[in-house]
Amino acid sequence: MTAYKKIFLLVAFLFSTTWAQINAQTYAKNGMVVSSDKTSSEVGVSILKKGGNAVDAAIATAFSLAVTHPAAGNIGGGGFIVFMNAKGKVTTIDFREKAPLAAGPNMYLDENGNLIADINHMTAKAIGVPGTVAGLYLAHQKYGQLPWAELVQPAIDQAQNGFVFNWSLNGAAEYFSSEENESEFMKNYFKNQTGEIPEPGDLWHQPELACTLILIRDKGHDGFYKGETANKITAWMKQNGGIITKKDLKKYAAVERNPIQGSYKGYDVYSMPPPSSGGVALIEMMNLMELADFKTMEFNSASHLHLVAEAMRRAFADRAEHLGDPDFNPDIPVDKLTSKDFAKKRFAEIDINRASVSDSTRFGQLYDGESTTHLSTIDKDGNAVSLTYTLEYSYGSQMGSSELGFIFNNEMGDFNPQPGVTKSNGQIGTNANLVAPEKRMLSSMTPTIVGKNGKPYLVIGSPGGRTIINTVFQTVFNVLEFDMRIDKAIEALKIHHQWLPDQIIYEKNLLSPDTRKILEGMGHTLRERTNMGALMGITYDSEKKVFTGASDSSQPDSGAVGF
Ligand code: DON
Repeated sequence: MTAYKKIFLLVAFLFSTTWAQINAQTYAKNGMVVSSDKTSSEVGVSILKKGGNAVDAAIATAFSLAVTHPAAGNIGGGGFIVFMNAKGKVTTIDFREKAPLAAGPNMYLDENGNLIADINHMTAKAIGVPGTVAGLYLAHQKYGQLPWAELVQPAIDQAQNGFVFNWSLNGAAEYFSSEENESEFMKNYFKNQTGEIPEPGDLWHQPELACTLILIRDKGHDGFYKGETANKITAWMKQNGGIITKKDLKKYAAVERNPIQGSYKGYDVYSMPPPSSGGVALIEMMNLMELADFKTMEFNSASHLHLVAEAMRRAFADRAEHLGDPDFNPDIPVDKLTSKDFAKKRFAEIDINRASVSDSTRFGQLYDGESTTHLSTIDKDGNAVSLTYTLEYSYGSQMGSSELGFIFNNEMGDFNPQPGVTKSNGQIGTNANLVAPEKRMLSSMTPTIVGKNGKPYLVIGSPGGRTIINTVFQTVFNVLEFDMRIDKAIEALKIHHQWLPDQIIYEKNLLSPDTRKILEGMGHTLRERTNMGALMGITYDSEKKVFTGASDSSQPDSGAVGF
């Protein structure tokens, strides 16, 4: 990319960011969808207008994002749904990817037991058995209203007829056509039939993806996991060193699980249970916050941020120690970690004036990729869906079959790669999250719904690897504790502490230098980065029957659409 183009892209990005902030909130009475791509949110709303419920809208939006937002929207990855119905009953659907049958705890090690660099992230062995189609199908079977085909069709239309290529896609396409990119599949991925990369404003067509979606439309779950698509996936695996077989695909099933439930000052907080770590960590941190008196502190002052960081440090240490796939770890102490009593014990360890020290001989965290996406929906009756799904890295494994037109995840990288080896640089080796056949890798995705008097009050989630948990936590906390508007809560400074490395990461330009100095004086190490997360949220005033939606201004193409 030329320097001129880089500057131009940056200016376009900054401009759209400012614009998005000005148009921060959207209000509606009949339903709302918020997602990373406004045209996909519009797809979701079109389903609501046809009489579909929040689940139908979420399914249609998710299929649409697989077309419009392929960095993270997907049919080749996996994720989670938290669903609260209009009567306040909450359930979740787990469609996290699974390790293939041929996988095992030592699959990423050389003959000396050392981890082979990047093998669990950037090779075909990093691909987990995809769960998205199974998850969306199960959600539809149990809770959908409109016919399945009507929910897949808008995505087919977008792939077949094309949709307007945006700056983000153009930036990615330029990168993948540069010499830095080594993926042949990605080199051609964005090209139109003329062999050209579309410019922003051009239409982008994806005929192969449309064909794959047509099979899903017509055959549902089996349209992906059996027959033509399964044959093409497994043929590709054989040719490219992948280990997913027809049996893996045939055996994959999404699972309905009970949510993690907690409370904060009278609100009910529901989020995703293991194999996500999000819900447990979120409730643990909310319980800790409930024990502090934030009325005596300035918002985002050093005292406030110190307590938040210390809560994060503890929740992430517990995460590293205990969490993994519950089907393989029946003894995860979920009740204990999310209890008010445990929070009291943890809170007592916090010195309000001094940073604790993370013990680097115990647990560490690894850097996570940068692409996942969240969508929130709500319908006129007050059914609400919080859905986060991912390919792990941006554009996942950056591999796929050109015949199928979609990208495979690289989610196996979320397993602990080397048994018993935990390093302060971030690698974890604890047992709960080691690779095993058919096991689901631990996730940080935190799709969340907060209820008030049995009705949805806040529907929220975000991408961001391990920062997801903390980004969602602070947004929920901003709304519940400080009564903040949804757009303000989303845009407010976010910090991130994950036990190890022992540091607070904060969003650039949002923390005052004075506050930073005070935190350093307390013993914290601070590091700045660009924005964290991309929150997509809705609040619901059930008395006035008004939905308010906002999407993160860091995602220029995102949008809250209501009607
Ligand atoms: O499931 C997880 O926790 C990760 N695979 C999510 C990765 C992610 O959010 C990357 N980011 N934006």
